[in-house]
Amino acid sequence: MANSKKVIWRGGTQLAPVPAVLVGCGDQRRWKYNLITVAWCGTVASDPPQLSISIRRERYSYAPIAESGEFTVNLPDAAMVAALDNCGVVSGRDTDKFALHQLTAVRGSRVAAPIVGEAPLSLECRVVKTLDLGSHTMFVGEILAVQVSADLIDAAGKFDVERANLVAFAHGHYFDLGKCLGGFGFSVRKKR
Ligand SMILES: Cc1cc2nc3c(=O)[nH]c(=O)nc-3n(C[C@H](O)[C@H](O)[C@H](O)COP(=O)(O)O)c2cc1C
Repeated sequence: MANSKKVIWRGGTQLAPVPAVLVGCGDQRRWKYNLITVAWCGTVASDPPQLSISIRRERYSYAPIAESGEFTVNLPDAAMVAALDNCGVVSGRDTDKFALHQLTAVRGSRVAAPIVGEAPLSLECRVVKTLDLGSHTMFVGEILAVQVSADLIDAAGKFDVERANLVAFAHGHYFDLGKCLGGFGFSVRKKR
């Protein structure tokens, strides 16, 4: 590790990599099912488990999430990356994104919003806090249920993250996760 020379750079929102996820919303009654790609998403608390998504008010998805107080967060795998990108450039106002990308909408087990059947991991959320942050509104969602593809749970009951082939987003580009560099706490574990 070298101490590299720095320059003061443009922009403010350069935190990367981040997850890029498909947020599911709607209930097929007041609002049709829809998907919106969100990169400004993060875990914010573990007890109760909560995450945040930040959405611009002008998005079609804003009202279903704000008014129903429900949404899902679906982590795509690398095979879904074109759908992930496209759901971030077309609007549910005029497009059925589930049909366009041949994705399966499955009503959540705890919320009316849909999960994406093809996603390896989906989180069902209920809004517990809403924060107006200027350009974006941050919705903090309590995670009421986690749905995982059964074939990605290994013999020890752990999520097989390598086989899940998840996607990250950094500086305008999508990446797969690459090689594993170590497990939590590996730096202090004694070598066998
Ligand atoms: C990689 C990526 C990340 C995005 N992240 C966000 C985000 O965090 N918040 C947001 O409001 N829009 C985000 N967008 C833009 C919306 O996904 C996009 O405007 C979408 O078409 C809105 O869909 P809707 O009109 O059906 O709600 C992102 C787009 C892409 C491609």
